[in-house]
Amino acid sequence: MPTVNIANLKSKSIHCDDKRESLLNILLTATDWMHACGGKGRCTSCKARIIKGMEQLSPVSKPEEQYLKLNKLRKDERLACQTFLKGDLTVEVPKETQLPHLNYTD
Ligand code: FES
Repeated sequence: MPTVNIANLKSKSIHCDDKRESLLNILLTATDWMHACGGKGRCTSCKARIIKGMEQLSPVSKPEEQYLKLNKLRKDERLACQTFLKGDLTVEVPKETQLPHLNYTD
């Protein structure tokens, strides 16, 4: 059972029961996470910075390829709504998508 750790959210750990769920849906089981387009791959608000475990993720999706070309997504970032995981992962919430009502650490 893969575990997702959110490094800058007090190292919150989330156990994933179903690998068919997107990273966004896994994150939303335990915390609030920005997802302005509702998980359709049409914005970049759900992006997660991958600290460890990039090799545990599904291949880069078409929307992610487009955002990478436009420099709206960094090479160490993935759209949580377009990404599925196969193993343990450590992420952090990028500064620009942090929510004002949550307390992030650096
Ligand atoms: S929620 Fe908009 S791209 Fe993921």
